[in-house]
Amino acid sequence: MEDVNPEVIAVSFQKGGTGKTFTAMNLAGGLAARGFEVLLIDMDPQGTLTANLGHREVFNDIDQLSLDEVLLDVNKWDQVSDLVIERDEFDLIPANSTYTGNKTPLDSADAGEKRLGKVLSRMEKTYHYVVCDCPPDFSAFAKNAVTAGENVVVPMVPRSEMVHSTNLLFDMYDTLGMMHDLDIEYLAFTMTYTSTKRTKEMREVLEWFDDTFGEKGVKIDDRAAFDRAKWEAGSIYVHEESLQNDEFPQFDKAVKLIVDQTTPPEFGDVDSMRKKTTDDIRSREIKA
Ligand SMILES: Nc1ncnc2c1ncn2[C@@H]1O[C@H](COP(=O)(O)OP(=O)(O)OP(=O)(O)O)[C@@H](O)[C@H]1O
Ligand SMILES: [Mg+2]
Repeated sequence: MEDVNPEVIAVSFQKGGTGKTFTAMNLAGGLAARGFEVLLIDMDPQGTLTANLGHREVFNDIDQLSLDEVLLDVNKWDQVSDLVIERDEFDLIPANSTYTGNKTPLDSADAGEKRLGKVLSRMEKTYHYVVCDCPPDFSAFAKNAVTAGENVVVPMVPRSEMVHSTNLLFDMYDTLGMMHDLDIEYLAFTMTYTSTKRTKEMREVLEWFDDTFGEKGVKIDDRAAFDRAKWEAGSIYVHEESLQNDEFPQFDKAVKLIVDQTTPPEFGDVDSMRKKTTDDIRSREIKA
């Protein structure tokens, strides 16, 4: 049978404020800019991504059906498509303020860590990629994102505890992999840093990052333009100032790492989507 299941990517790190939401939103933007059909899922109870994309009213509406509810109740799995907000750039499953997050009943539900993949297979629309913005923890939500696709992207910042924290992450996901027979791939490691503010600690972490992750490590110099893209409720791929920023090609490397290591379902002209270069992306017309 033809495989129509999307590639699911978990953007995950248990440390707070390391660029997960930034990375998830812009990876989704980079994939969408190549022509792929992309769904972004906000799995963080704080709903930062949902708010950044201009959907605070949905986040605050406690009567709204939420992903939490759908994952928990097998009778609601067929309603997963009702969660989707269709957007020009990529679609979104928003977070809701009722998410229970770290203490979710999913922890004690049957196969509570494995439900997202099953739920996604009931979607009405087909996607090439589903990108999950995980919360800063190892909750059932984060684990669902990892088990659904066995693909992880890890965003970091240059603090010395990264060495310890990444080892903890590998240990946690190794165990998860053993429990569920997963073959987890780490597709990319991103490191957002400020090149003008280099302390000895930062230099050492950046060296460790290069030595440890090699080709899969992408260092991104923090740019005010990238931060401003957020105010327009879209990714840096639909923000002209960000697209033309000298650091843009660096971020796009992370998208290419994903494209090169995954095999999304073959609908549409996937071959030409895969071949798009950073220059193709920068020079295309952006829909207003
Ligand atoms: N390359 C970058 N250039 C400019 N700003 C960035 C970049 N990466 C991250 N930021 C900004 O840094 C801040 C923290 O990033 P972000 O919210 O993505 O972290 P997070 O890991 O999702 O946090 P949390 O753990 O709370 O979910 C945000 O304001 C984000 O827009
Ligand atoms: Mg976040």
